[in-house]
Amino acid sequence: MENNLFLNAAFSQKTERPPVWMMRQAGRFMPQYWEIKNKYSFLEMCKTPEIAADVTMLPVDLLDIDAAILFSDILVTGEAMGGDLSFTQGVGPKFANPVRTQADIDNLNIDCLDRLQYVADAIKVIQQRLNGKIPLIGFAGAPFTVMSYLVEGGSSRDFKLTKLMLHNEPEMAHQLLAKIAKVTAAYLNLQIEAGVNAVQIFDSWAQALAWDDYKDFSHRYIAEIISNLNRKDIPVISFCKGSSVFAPLMAEAKPDVISIDWNVDLLDMKQRLPQNIAVQGNLDPHILYADKPVIKERIHRLFERMKDTPGFIFNLGHGIMPDIPFDNVKYAIEVIKEYRY
Ligand code: CP3
Repeated sequence: MENNLFLNAAFSQKTERPPVWMMRQAGRFMPQYWEIKNKYSFLEMCKTPEIAADVTMLPVDLLDIDAAILFSDILVTGEAMGGDLSFTQGVGPKFANPVRTQADIDNLNIDCLDRLQYVADAIKVIQQRLNGKIPLIGFAGAPFTVMSYLVEGGSSRDFKLTKLMLHNEPEMAHQLLAKIAKVTAAYLNLQIEAGVNAVQIFDSWAQALAWDDYKDFSHRYIAEIISNLNRKDIPVISFCKGSSVFAPLMAEAKPDVISIDWNVDLLDMKQRLPQNIAVQGNLDPHILYADKPVIKERIHRLFERMKDTPGFIFNLGHGIMPDIPFDNVKYAIEVIKEYRY
């Protein structure tokens, strides 16, 4: 690998500056994304390896980040299991056949890796294009977050139906989560086999859960997935919205890196975790709406705080919003790349 900053930091080694990538770095804040998006549907983009590779490469070519992330979505596992998935502009993801009864759960197919082969194909095309320049991160959704979309039938503000299933029908919820976890581990192993250099598990909506429910219905399945990965020298990143609360528990699942949201002081959090676990984060994505001197000051403030701490990857606490100015993202990355500890 020409640029090893990301992998070194992920394995808690010292780097000359923090490596940088950003969640949702290939997306709607980029004018070049829209040029492609205007021609194809989102799922067509994900399922056509050449197009998925084109989009994955946009931030590599235009922003010069230190790691690429596969262009796909966390909901493709739900689709492969039998979910009727669509993405509509302004509506977001929808499953037309929500999973709410025992029969719905029984109908989900766990032998569905062949339906995700297009992802392995995309990874191979992307690795040819990257040609050893920077690492490629693969990813999957965590069981609880994927479950929430399957049960609600789409995005949700309060996860009412999902939490009702956890609370009223815990046995059913466990069956559903176990099925998703099984597919997710196999799917991540398929990505590793196809050539990704790291994997991230996204539990975007974990912050909706009480501590005990997070432990029983989310953490447990993430730990199971991580223990079933053919890791070799592939770092595993665990992301959850709510990590400023749940990180000590996330650490028990033994990821190499925990991605931290912006509610907590990152150094304090790092010091509370086992030494061999690196942290990723944790700039509030809203900082990228602010004026450039503010962007620079906040990045430098974070870096000064983390400067004597091996095992730090710069990222946002959550994904880039679609209306963040492209120029501000580019500026932030320049500031990061100029910095030296
Ligand atoms: O980070 C990257 O650049 C890689 C690609 C990526 C996408 N989705 C592309 C995408 C990744 C890693 C994801 C993960 C994902 N998808 C998550 C977890 C990350 C997070 O932000 O918490 C979640 C919760 C989803 C589910 C999902 N997919 C939502 C809520 C949406 C947006 C709906 C909307 O209209 O706002 C999507 C669609 C999606 N995934 C888009 C992209 C670029 C937008 C699709 C479009 O162009 O219309």
